[in-house]
Amino acid sequence: MRGLIPDNLLEDILSRVDIVEVVSGFIPLKKAGRNFKACCPFHHEKTASFTVSPDRQIYHCFGCGESGNAFKFLMRYERLEFPEAVQVLAKKTGVVIPEINSGPDKNTAFITQLYGINELAVAFYENNLTSPEGLKIKDYLLKRGVKEHSIKDFKLGVASDKWDALINHLRSKGSSLALLEKAGLVISKDSGGYYDRFRNRLIIPIFDIKGRPLAFGARVLDNSLPKYINSPETPIYTKGKNLFGLNLAKEAIRDKDQAVIVEGYLDFIIPYQEGLKNIVASQGTALTVEQVRLLKRHTNNVVVIYDPDKAGELAALRSLDIFIEEEMDVKVVSLPQGLDPDTFVRKNGIDALSGLIDSASDLFDYKLKVLKSRFNHKEISGKAKISSGMLESLSKIKNAVLKSEYLKKLAQELDIKEDAIIEESRKVKTDKPQLSISRGIDNKLSNANSAEMLLIKLMLEEAELIDHIKNHLGPEDFQDEKISGIVSIMFELAEQGKKVGANTLINHFSQEDVSRLVCESIFLPLQLNSDNKIKVADDCIKRLKNNSSMLKRHKLQEEIKLAHNAGNEQRLNNLMEEFQTLINKER
Ligand code: CTP
Ligand code: MN
Repeated sequence: MRGLIPDNLLEDILSRVDIVEVVSGFIPLKKAGRNFKACCPFHHEKTASFTVSPDRQIYHCFGCGESGNAFKFLMRYERLEFPEAVQVLAKKTGVVIPEINSGPDKNTAFITQLYGINELAVAFYENNLTSPEGLKIKDYLLKRGVKEHSIKDFKLGVASDKWDALINHLRSKGSSLALLEKAGLVISKDSGGYYDRFRNRLIIPIFDIKGRPLAFGARVLDNSLPKYINSPETPIYTKGKNLFGLNLAKEAIRDKDQAVIVEGYLDFIIPYQEGLKNIVASQGTALTVEQVRLLKRHTNNVVVIYDPDKAGELAALRSLDIFIEEEMDVKVVSLPQGLDPDTFVRKNGIDALSGLIDSASDLFDYKLKVLKSRFNHKEISGKAKISSGMLESLSKIKNAVLKSEYLKKLAQELDIKEDAIIEESRKVKTDKPQLSISRGIDNKLSNANSAEMLLIKLMLEEAELIDHIKNHLGPEDFQDEKISGIVSIMFELAEQGKKVGANTLINHFSQEDVSRLVCESIFLPLQLNSDNKIKVADDCIKRLKNNSSMLKRHKLQEEIKLAHNAGNEQRLNNLMEEFQTLINKER
């Protein structure tokens, strides 16, 4: 469920809005048969493949796959959080929503206090710039090419070398020490009392996407270590869930439909100052799924600027696979040895960096180049190493067409048979263990997947089929984990006697790809009528059943092999018996 707003309120709102009206408030729609069409606002295209269905109250883009209901459209188009999108439509439709808070009032007040105290700290550190120490740091920044206006734009500041400067200041404003500690600004001493966490450092405040101060990074001015210290995790700050600079860059990222990702604070500040506005910084660590999903709300295209002299180039490259898993388009720029984006721009200018970004290599090409520079692709053992390195990434591609094109390309590049590559690709372990037993039956599985989607379409369009299908299949018979989840919710709603419509069903899933599956199913090109619908349903049911028992058989066969190899007679006997029963049942 989507958190704290009751389902019936969400349904109430959705029943009163017309998605056509909502969408056409932002982009012009043209009538096309029963549906409306437009050029997709979420990816660049020349022919209209963005479709809005007034019957189903959902939208779907056949080009990029973006889809959802009216809430989702507002979230994507206006970049709102779910509760905010709900609020907007609630207002429009006159539905009154009880206070949407993420917790009891006490917590909300506490969170507000944390932001408040960070605000005060930002102002305090900023203000220190005019002190003698502050002037020293300002001088350091100016020498590093950070201009006066950037110092203001980024609200950079200074922590003095005193142990209690911030404490004294904030105490005088009435803040409690307990709150200061919760905000990560002070540290408690073993002997009692507190001291300032950040001392004698340049202060770089970290803001969330709405521009609220979450945390701080603090850099020394000499070569002492650690170079940076950062705020600890606090109730409002989790490392790895935030991207530095997204609050400043989000518009540009959206306008350009592309985000440039760098590592460091200064690697953000200098290029941004010089005019590259669609940029964010990961703050050193490998990118997390949360950070990637945060970006994905704004664009599907990323260019990672990559430091080639960082240790473990391949390991670092591997971390980019996360973009593949999130179905984003990822390119790589590698800078000349020894330069990071900050120093590169100061040496060569921003246009040079933009040039590199425009000609960035596809992750596939880049990784292949790196691997080819490591291993001899003319030798057999080299080919094997290169292909297994490439398959690690390629196995994560979800789109079957894309994947098979890349496999073909890899076979060509290495001058080996495509069949061999495909065979190897099946061996690569994916994160989903249940698929490892389905080796060699991928084709049938993907047929099954379309049968599974068709069943969803059938249940959404012909409510009376839900019971029929439920009598023959359980959610566990659906091999696709996501579809299985969708089906179990549909069955549950049907049991409660609720109407199951595509637009309300989507509310039950926060994962983007799940709601996309619902919309894709709806738009499967099959006209259902009273003559064919039962037959189509029964065909699908049969396919799923066959598939399900085939998978069971394959699983048993693998287990039998294992028991046999282990010489476990007892287990082997049991498994054989099980296998026989299964076969008998199928007859
Ligand atoms: N970082 C960190 N803690 C450290 C070192 C690095 O949090 N001890 C993070 C910071 O966000 C930093 C980023 O990792 O910006 C990249 O580190 P590095 O390349 O070492 O620093 P730069 O940002 O290049 O800083 P500078 O150019 O000022 O040396
Ligand atoms: Mn640097």
